[in-house]
Amino acid sequence: MKRKQIVAGNWKMNKDYEAGRDLTKAIVNALKPSDTLVILGPPYIHLMNVNRIIKDVSNLELAAQNCHEAVSGAYTGEVSAGMLKSCDVGYVILGHSERRAYFNETDELIAKKIDVVLEHGMHPIYCCGEPLEVREDGKQNELVGEQIEQALFHLSAEDMAKVVIAYEPVWAIGTGKTASPEQAQEMHAYIRSLIEKQYSAEVAQGLSILYGGSVKPKNAGEIFSQEDVDGGLIGGASLKADDFIAIVNSF
Ligand code: PGA
Repeated sequence: MKRKQIVAGNWKMNKDYEAGRDLTKAIVNALKPSDTLVILGPPYIHLMNVNRIIKDVSNLELAAQNCHEAVSGAYTGEVSAGMLKSCDVGYVILGHSERRAYFNETDELIAKKIDVVLEHGMHPIYCCGEPLEVREDGKQNELVGEQIEQALFHLSAEDMAKVVIAYEPVWAIGTGKTASPEQAQEMHAYIRSLIEKQYSAEVAQGLSILYGGSVKPKNAGEIFSQEDVDGGLIGGASLKADDFIAIVNSF
């Protein structure tokens, strides 16, 4: 089964209105039609405008970087899944290690966000990955296995098939240090085996598993060529159109 190849950009808290508009336009102008699904993940404030710029480009989709777990209500400063859906958002990045570290997000909370995103017809991009000390202890499979189980295994097979997983070792995010292609492959194959055990070979084989952590134009090709790596979640290099497009083209 041919899995969907995906390159998703996570702008994090970068770019003001004009810079975000210019980056989006540069990406639209440089993007060649291909089978790779390209996803832009700007801050909330950009979503409407980025949507206007990309809406006629067939392989380009919009992601939000977070959403609240409640449907609506008195949660000052928060944004709901329904609001995102109404702005044509197709994907929501959840469980990013920065949200876990700086905003105390637990897998229990992330599981609720995953549910509300699925209920609104969008796809969660669920991030998991181990910190350096866990890798040094050789306990990475255990930790990532727990993250997957706690945030995802309550889902039906039908819903699980709508999820995208991003494996992002915390020690590789924004550090310039990437996992080796072998380390990425090993973890991706492990994640896929967990999904197969819990669900089925069909669900596991259809699932896109992205690698994230210092993916750059110079290392993307090698990482993406691994059997179980179906693309990347790109932070720093998604902020420059040339780099981002070079990563998209490296499949
Ligand atoms: P990075 O970020 O590419 O800047 O390492 C990846 C991520 O946090 O998704």
